[in-house]
Amino acid sequence: MGRYPVNELLSALSRYPDVQAPNLHAVDAADRLVLDTVQSWPAEVSVLGDNYGALTLGALSQGAARVRVHTDSLTAQRAITANLERLAPQWLSRVQLLPAAEALAGATLVLMVLPRGLDVLDEYAAAIATHADEHVLVHAGGRIKHMNLGMNQVLSAHFGELDVSLARQKSRVLTVREPREVRPAAKYPVRATHTVAGHTLSLVAGAGTFGQARLDPGTRLLLENLPDLSGHRELVDLACGNGSIGVYAALLNPELRVQASDHSASAVQSTLAAAEANGLSARITAVQDDGLSRLPAASSRLVTLNPPFHMGNTVHAGIALKLIDEAARVLADGGRFICVFNSHLRYRSEISRRIGPTSQLARDAKFTVLAATRER
Ligand SMILES: C[S@@+](CC[C@H](N)C(=O)[O-])C[C@H]1O[C@@H](n2cnc3c(N)ncnc32)[C@H](O)[C@@H]1O
Repeated sequence: MGRYPVNELLSALSRYPDVQAPNLHAVDAADRLVLDTVQSWPAEVSVLGDNYGALTLGALSQGAARVRVHTDSLTAQRAITANLERLAPQWLSRVQLLPAAEALAGATLVLMVLPRGLDVLDEYAAAIATHADEHVLVHAGGRIKHMNLGMNQVLSAHFGELDVSLARQKSRVLTVREPREVRPAAKYPVRATHTVAGHTLSLVAGAGTFGQARLDPGTRLLLENLPDLSGHRELVDLACGNGSIGVYAALLNPELRVQASDHSASAVQSTLAAAEANGLSARITAVQDDGLSRLPAASSRLVTLNPPFHMGNTVHAGIALKLIDEAARVLADGGRFICVFNSHLRYRSEISRRIGPTSQLARDAKFTVLAATRER
């Protein structure tokens, strides 16, 4: 099998359908360092947490015949597939997107993007140690500014040997081998019960879910100021995370059905678990989606959103604006949008411009809750 010039391939990767901007990239120096760290390529490689396909396409370009990929994000899965379709359609049948256990079963080489949270790293490490071959070699790359010694400790709990690479372009690779089967340090899902305006809300969440089972303070302000929804039959909870907004709205409104979605598989599982914990499974669905791509334009009368202000490790407004645009597309004329954000982000003018007339429902020292009415 011929080798492809890896640098050209990596430079041609696109972030689509994720947000694209001049200062946002589909590949970084850590991805390149991971690929350069591999000394001999087995026929089959497993990849964890690839965002846009740098490790996946990189491995194929170096001679791997097959790549099994696990990533929690549907947006990442779509980006990897889109890059394969555009740059190397002949490789599509050689890449499988799989749950972690299947992506890792019997693996001898695992390439990993170091996740942000130690809990997710702990889950990944435990999954490798449980499912991979006993001689597995793991190369996990990250930008030094996002790495910490806690990562070494987590990996050392699951592997007998850990090497830290020299730094290159502000990146390092942690290489581990000799897996030992130990359970993840923390027990997931975690559970917590919150009282909001006198109502009890139970949250149940996996390691990879935003905020896990905590109630985000901005979300709390939104819930405490949730307007009367009695005229509504259906709520679209966009970027649902642990499900707190949709589940609470369903608790208060016995007629309301909730369609929740998030790009993260962990978030979807957490929302379904929270729905069950509150006895609301019959009225709440949750699915993975990038934005609201599954819903037609002008098909909804009520959308809620607490937008992210991070994309991976980068603070960037693009993702919030993309999700606000998704709400604008899906809301029917006269439909309502309820949103909370950090007050310093000044999204109000963006929301009025993209959705319609906007009013403030609440504001505290940190957060602003707005309601907007879609005008088409
Ligand atoms: C600030 S959290 C809010 C979660 C939850 N609604 C709450 O209030 O606690 C933002 C959520 O946006 C999700 N997200 C990020 N990008 C997304 C995308 N492209 N499509 C759907 N959800 C996305 C994240 O996974 C995260 O759960």
